[in-house]
Amino acid sequence: MGLLEKIDKNKLPLHIAIIMDGNGRWAKKRGFLRIFGHENGVKAVRESCEACAELGVKYLTLYAFSTENWNRPQDEINALMTLLVKTIKAETETLIKNNIRLKTIGDFEKLPKNCQNELNKLIKITENNTRTTLILALSYSSKWDIVNSVKKIAQLVKDGILEVEQINDETLSKELTTGPFPHPELLIRTSGEYRLSNFLLWELAYSEFYFTDTLWPDFNKNELYKAIINYQNRERRFGKTSEQL
Ligand code: FPP
Repeated sequence: MGLLEKIDKNKLPLHIAIIMDGNGRWAKKRGFLRIFGHENGVKAVRESCEACAELGVKYLTLYAFSTENWNRPQDEINALMTLLVKTIKAETETLIKNNIRLKTIGDFEKLPKNCQNELNKLIKITENNTRTTLILALSYSSKWDIVNSVKKIAQLVKDGILEVEQINDETLSKELTTGPFPHPELLIRTSGEYRLSNFLLWELAYSEFYFTDTLWPDFNKNELYKAIINYQNRERRFGKTSEQL
């Protein structure tokens, strides 16, 4: 029995989030510059997205560029932004053909203008697509998003639109850039690192975590199937006991 057949289609996570890690090490191991790893990571992006669409996973969030990544050498930042624009352009037809909707989370305004323009174009073209939503975390950090949400809530209170007593979980969730999307049931991190690196701290409160030693450029559909099968064999209790479920 292949991995795909082992997946229970009735117990799929609605939303998978991935910390794509290990591009630099993958390139270094082969004696190449880090950007070569990022370039080879694009195939894994495509495979993950395709697998989610084929299976019926409705949301896929990819951590493509963190707020902290702005501290990398300028050459690498430029190369990553160029790669992003190139990939968006190259994948436009595929996203349309496969009925995939593109969205972003993070500090969109911080991205270079040409990058914003290309993203906006594709977001607009795909806005009515319904099969799977691909969410790119760009210039994203969870602490930034939470602080931003708190500021928006403070403004609503200041403007007399909201009472302090009305603030709850939902109020904060709604003002995050992740606000329109359900919270992920499954988080995957590649490359053998066991950290959240400022990713979806609020949204992952009850998610299942899956770590693999596979470096991101080697990640593929089978690797994603393995993570889903592992997730399906877990018991999600949300603070309750096994007997209460
Ligand atoms: C982490 O590896 C990866 C990134 C910071 C960037 C991910 C970008 C891509 C896969 C390319 C294009 C993306 C899209 C969505 C089109 P790392 O550089 O931190 O690797 P290391 O930990 O081995 O140094």
